[in-house]
Parts: sequence; C-alpha cells; structure tokens
Amino acid sequence: MSFLSLFSKEENSVLGVDIGSSAIKVVQIRKKNGQAVLETYGELALGPYGNATIGQATVLPQEKVAEALVNLMNEKEVSVTTAMCGISIPFGSSLMSVIEMPAVSPKQLAVMVPIEARKYIPVPITEVMLDWSVIPKSDTRPSLEEEEARKVGVPNIPKVDILVVAIHNETIARYKDIVERSHLDAGFFEIEIFSSMRAILDESIKPVLIMDMGAASTKLYIVERGIVKTSHTINRGAQDITQTISKSLGISVQDAEVMKRRVGASGEDKTLLEIINLILEYIFSEANRIILSFEKKYNKPISKAILVGGGAALKGLAPIAQNSLKIETFAGNPFSKLSAPAFIEEVLRDTGPEFAVAVGLALRRLSEEE
Ligand SMILES: Nc1ncnc2c1ncn2[C@@H]1O[C@H](COP(=O)(O)OP(=O)(O)OP(=O)(O)O)[C@@H](O)[C@H]1O
Ligand SMILES: [Mg+2]
Repeated sequence: MSFLSLFSKEENSVLGVDIGSSAIKVVQIRKKNGQAVLETYGELALGPYGNATIGQATVLPQEKVAEALVNLMNEKEVSVTTAMCGISIPFGSSLMSVIEMPAVSPKQLAVMVPIEARKYIPVPITEVMLDWSVIPKSDTRPSLEEEEARKVGVPNIPKVDILVVAIHNETIARYKDIVERSHLDAGFFEIEIFSSMRAILDESIKPVLIMDMGAASTKLYIVERGIVKTSHTINRGAQDITQTISKSLGISVQDAEVMKRRVGASGEDKTLLEIINLILEYIFSEANRIILSFEKKYNKPISKAILVGGGAALKGLAPIAQNSLKIETFAGNPFSKLSAPAFIEEVLRDTGPEFAVAVGLALRRLSEEE
C-alpha cells in the first residue's frame, strides 16, 4: 500500500443510518489522530412523508423511505459526503432468544444451533437469516435444574447459553432496496440494540438497563458484560404521550407535540405533568416488572438505567424515571464517544439520546474500515 492510499484511507468518512418508525437519523464521523470525530449529523421526521405529523410513527413503502433519507443527507445543514454506512434494523423486525445447548465444539454447535433454533422461530428456517453467539461461560451461573441434578447425583453435562438472532429475509430485502435507491454502500445491517450498546455503554461489568423510548414503543434491554441478557418491547412510546396530551386538552396533535417538547415533564405545568405521567407510569411499571424478573432469575441487582431515543429528551424525565425504577437513571450521551467542538457540547448532550443508534452504527463502520 502506498503512502498516498494510506493517507486517503485516513480521510474516509463513514455514516450511521437509523431508520426509526417516526424519524431517520444520520451521523457522519471520521478518524483523525486515532479519534472518532463528529463531522455532521441530522434527523428528519417521517410523518409528513406518510399521513402523520412530526413525532408520530408511520409505515412507509421503501421508495418513500429512500426519498426521505436522500433528502436528509442533502439538507444544507447536514450535507453528508460519504456513501459508506451501516444501517440499523428495528428490534421489532428481529427475533432474539437465548437457548441452552450442551457445551460441544463450535463446529458441532454450528450444526446443532439452527436445528434447535427452529423450536423458537415461528417461521420456516429458510425464511430467516440466522446469527448466533455463545454467551461466555463465566457469565452463566448453574441453573436451578443443574443444581438439582447435581444434588441428586445425576452426571452433570456442561451447558452453554447461546444468543440466537433471526431476521426475516423480507426485512433484509426491504433494507437492501432502500440502500440501493439511496445510492449508499452499506457495510452491514445491525439490529439497533447492538448499535445503541456500542454508543453508550462503558466497561461496566454489572448489569445495566437500556431503555430506548422511540415513537411507537419503548424497547428494554438488560445488558451484562456487553451481552444482551433480556430484551422486551413495551407497546407505549413518545407518540402516546403526545396523543394523550392532545385528547386530554382538546388540542391538535401538532400543538400537543410542541407543548410536550417545550414544557415536557419539567413540572412547570402541573396539569401537563399529570397527563404525561399517565403514560410514563405504564412504561415504568412494565420496566419494573422486567427488572424484578431479571433480578430474581439471575440473583443480582441492575446497577443503573440509561435512557435513549427521542422520548428520553423529554424534560424532567430522568428524575421521574429514577424515582420509579429506584436505580440510578440518566440520559445516554453517545456523542461523548466522539470528539466535537466545545461550543456545541450542550446541544449534543440534549439531542444525544436520539442519536444513540446512528452513532453506534457509524462507530462500527469506522472500526471496520481500519
Ligand atoms: N424534546 C423532546 N421531548 C419529548 N419528546 C421528544 C422530544 N424530542 C423528540 N421527542 C419524541 O421522540 C419520539 C421520536 O424518538 P425516536 O426518533 O427515538 O423514535 P424512532 O426511532 O423513530 O422510533 P422507534 O425507535 O420506536 O422506531 C417522537 O415521538 C417525539 O415526539
Ligand atoms: Mg428508534
């Protein structure tokens, strides 16, 4: 490799593309002096491309999604300059399960896992793309069954837990089509959980709860040592807050959205806070149920909760969440993994949670370009 090509490689920028149910987010970064530098970022609401307003989820045909994505990349303030990207796949389009297998060689597992996975995947195995990884042994305690077996003297066959992820072929085809129509070069498709994790987790070895409050739903992941132990979707999201405000106060959805973003749950408006709490109480009681069941199953506490997604930008949310969950809770700031000019630090902190997935994707693409 010549010095010149080495140099130009250094200059390569990469893009993370997060196509959410209500908005597309892009983040462009590049490597400079060994550091990931933020070059540009932006988001575009999808509602207006369908029959919805800003902040509401919408289902669009892929040509509309591609059109919106191209428009976003070409927006003057955004001006994306690279096609090299990574793209997220919604958690809801994937099937994840942890299955228990005998601890055999990787070669044998490669044969056995797809067979065993059939039991957990409700569609024919030929219709999905299957990916799986072994959850390291140090991480799994003996199950109750194993303990029982040991007590009664049954020979103990070592077991491993395997995280199996399946994505429907139709989903992959849809994203490939969007990529083609937008003239992008997608190095990979990644389920959004893994992107968020890369963007916000530190080296902590204790279990952490990540809550991604999107428009249509709130996704919960409990992660330990970089491994997803539990995942769950709560069918309430940030758009439900807007709709409840709209109905309760008899104002339009647009006005409710503006009010939500401007005042939020800061407590400045007590009536508004009560309305917002109707939705938050539901979300956090579900979250508590999941936390409890994890803590019971694994017999260890969750150390903290990190909030991401546009819903996490709600003013006053973190203290309410902390109060409900009874663990340290804060909004994730993925931009802190990137270097950026000091004067935009505050803006980045406020909008950060929304860009967790896009930042995580860009970071992975950057590492794959090295
Ligand atoms: N400042 C704010 N205060 C409160 N809510 C906000 C704020 N900014 C954005 N939101 C809400 O966040 C939601 C969008 O979040 P996000 O972009 O993470 O969703 P998405 O990725 O499109 O959805 P999903 O992940 O469910 O597919 C919208 O419903 C919007 O109303
Ligand atoms: Mg999202």
